[in-house]
Amino acid sequence: MTDSTAKGASQLGGADLFDLSMIRKYDKAGPRYTSYPTAPMFHAGVGALDYASTLKRVADDDAPLSLYIHIPFCNTVCYYCGCNKIVTKQYDHAAPYLELLLKEIDQVATAMGNCKRPVTQLHFGGGTPTFMSNDQMRAIMNKLRQCFNFVAKDEGEFSIEIDPRECDEDTVSVLQEIGLNRMSMGVQDFDPIVQKAVNRIQSKEETMRVLLEARQHGFESMNIDLMYGLPHQTVETFDRTLNTIIDFSPDRIALFNYAHLPHMFMPQRRIDEASIPTPQEKLNILEHSINKLLKAGYIFIGMDHFAKPDDELTIAQQQGKLYRNFQGYSTQADCDLIGFGVTSIGYVGGGFFQNHREMDAYAQEVENGEFSVFRGYVLSDEDHLRRQVIMRLMCDFALEYAQFESEFGIDFKEHFADGLSDLKEMSEDNLVELREDGLTVLPAGRLLIRNVAMTFDEYLQKKKEGTSFSKVI
Ligand SMILES: C[S@@+](CC[C@H](N)C(=O)[O-])C[C@H]1O[C@@H](n2cnc3c(N)ncnc32)[C@H](O)[C@@H]1O
Ligand code: SF4
Repeated sequence: MTDSTAKGASQLGGADLFDLSMIRKYDKAGPRYTSYPTAPMFHAGVGALDYASTLKRVADDDAPLSLYIHIPFCNTVCYYCGCNKIVTKQYDHAAPYLELLLKEIDQVATAMGNCKRPVTQLHFGGGTPTFMSNDQMRAIMNKLRQCFNFVAKDEGEFSIEIDPRECDEDTVSVLQEIGLNRMSMGVQDFDPIVQKAVNRIQSKEETMRVLLEARQHGFESMNIDLMYGLPHQTVETFDRTLNTIIDFSPDRIALFNYAHLPHMFMPQRRIDEASIPTPQEKLNILEHSINKLLKAGYIFIGMDHFAKPDDELTIAQQQGKLYRNFQGYSTQADCDLIGFGVTSIGYVGGGFFQNHREMDAYAQEVENGEFSVFRGYVLSDEDHLRRQVIMRLMCDFALEYAQFESEFGIDFKEHFADGLSDLKEMSEDNLVELREDGLTVLPAGRLLIRNVAMTFDEYLQKKKEGTSFSKVI
């Protein structure tokens, strides 16, 4: 990494990052690259038998392991939501799901034998993981600890997504007791009109209560999710939300661009499209938010993420040790990720494996003692190379060609002649600096990092896909 790359991020102001004419010019849909190849490339040719043999093959590797547990349930539906969730007020759905999870954990552990690989990373995602009761959360963790070899709490990243509305007084202490040390909270917007329009009524007080409790219980790196582009939002209304959040002072803030894809997510059809801010108003909100967060001392990490200068994400980026996976940015090195639960995706032994997305299908396979994988993707050598290139771009905003040439035995400029030629226009627009030995994404190109990554995506280049992805800004 050169000094002009991520290291310089701390000195940047909003005006360096936000170039309206360039954002307009390069405005198009693109993947978020939490995986490469992206999920639309997964296919049914990879299934449960491949998963079983892959788990067995990697069981004795030395590298650390990461675990992901998907809890799909939510008590109410937020109309904007694009997550994999099941909306229900019936908490008794949690008990049979717990049984399935415990069974699936046993199945994986059996396939891997007595696996000693250190688990350095665990993430509970959803839906809303705390839909499960405190005892049910304890049961999941007990089972995981019986089956896997967890490193000490202060040596790993053990996290959970929290909806503060679904978090009673005991919940935070139980989450701490079972060994979790990171938390991410959904907020989106505190404005009452916006909250009503998206059916997510959440007070500042209950959000602050959970944040304070988490700090008291020693949780590190608290994150808050915000969203711009929601109905009725204006610069003025969102400014008030930002003021509150800055007062709360979370270590990290994710500022997501609302992806409005009503053909894919039914609840979004309940959002009145006339109330969604115009593209220009959205950009005004984004520009204002970036300026405000940077002024408040946050660093732009990449994509939609901001962190305090002393947060481990910022430090990892400065050291060139930042990674990206399905949960977004991470400080834990790229490693095998085992997914549990309906819809979950794992990355094991150089391949992706996804569980059934329908609860009935997932349940049936697990009850039969089978793995529930219904599709996946085994990476070729070329995929691994491109996955690495896209990962380093998203994390470092730079590439050093020599690193890939020695690791993959290629001549970078020859191998990626097409991609580099596609980047010439961005280079002429001062978004990217192309050199003999590498490239650097310049400050005004950072918000357009997906556009840069897309030039290295073999499948987008071949098929010119992209219609089901959200807009890059
Ligand atoms: C699984 S949810 C968070 C946990 C919890 N269920 C909650 O809502 O508080 C993950 C995050 O995804 C983001 N998200 C959901 N739908 C989105 C959409 N359509 N576009 C952009 N971001 C979205 C929201 O910021 C949300 O907080
Ligand atoms: S944003 Fe969170 S609580 Fe709302 S529907 Fe989506 S997953 Fe459920």
